[in-house]
Amino acid sequence: MIHNVLITGASSGIGRSCAFRFAASGAGLILTGRRIERLKAIEEEITRSFGVKVLSIEMDVADREGVARALNNLPEDMEPDVLINNAGLALGLDLFQDGNPEFWDRMIDTNVKGLLNVTHCIVPGMIRKGRGHIINIGSVAGREVYAKGNVYCASKAAVDSITRALRMDLLVHGIRVSQIAPGAVETEFSVVRFGGDLEKAGAVYNGFQPLHPDDVAEVVHYAAMLPPHVNINDLLLMPTAQASATQINRK
Ligand SMILES: NC(=O)c1ccc[n+]([C@@H]2O[C@H](COP(=O)([O-])OP(=O)(O)OC[C@H]3O[C@@H](n4cnc5c(N)ncnc54)[C@H](OP(=O)(O)O)[C@@H]3O)[C@@H](O)[C@H]2O)c1
Repeated sequence: MIHNVLITGASSGIGRSCAFRFAASGAGLILTGRRIERLKAIEEEITRSFGVKVLSIEMDVADREGVARALNNLPEDMEPDVLINNAGLALGLDLFQDGNPEFWDRMIDTNVKGLLNVTHCIVPGMIRKGRGHIINIGSVAGREVYAKGNVYCASKAAVDSITRALRMDLLVHGIRVSQIAPGAVETEFSVVRFGGDLEKAGAVYNGFQPLHPDDVAEVVHYAAMLPPHVNINDLLLMPTAQASATQINRK
């Protein structure tokens, strides 16, 4: 049975959907993100609908000290048995030679170092208890590079490597480590990637049915609910209309 789930990037998209999915099966939630007002609104809705305990924490995963301050002193009854490393972003879609190094820093600091910062705080408690489940949200972009995807793809390939390495390092402690890697999901992801340009963001999902963030949450929940001796190492899910990172059947 799952007691508490910590979700990074719970203020939007896949993280938000995971919060509702796990609340529906009775888990307590630790919701984190930078936009605390959004988290509080989600907390309020979930508490009202499902009556589970929710703790919202304003936290930038890239701020190592802030993460440690927030996560090293969680109330004992809110210690997570499932960690969903979901916070992440892409910034820009540019040829490498035209790329913005500040965007590179933010993607690597969030998608790679952010995941490490959070996991490093949570793993000791899981080791102490001899159980736990870390679920990293990867991407098809971590399997296949695409033109102009350079640093985002590299950051998600790093998530893939870190997931596999963690599984080895935590093997003796009975901790499950999974990667769930989606293809195209309609969230705020593309709005963020294109700096708020709604037209450009909308065009990403034109002419086909992308995944809904609830579809991804369903798969994450499935992986977490399997019996403790079963681990999904790696799961790639795509819209039916998508065959690879770049091949989409648009009508
Ligand atoms: N959408 C897709 O097509 C797709 C496909 C494959 C993989 N993914 C991956 O899925 C994950 C979730 O993305 P999404 O599609 O749900 O996008 P989204 O709607 O933009 O949500 C991203 C979440 O990450 C949080 N976040 C971003 N930077 C953060 C930081 N520095 N510190 C803490 N939280 C941060 C955001 O919260 P705040 O802004 O409140 O901090 C937000 O809650 C990402 O790792 C993304 O790479 C997405």
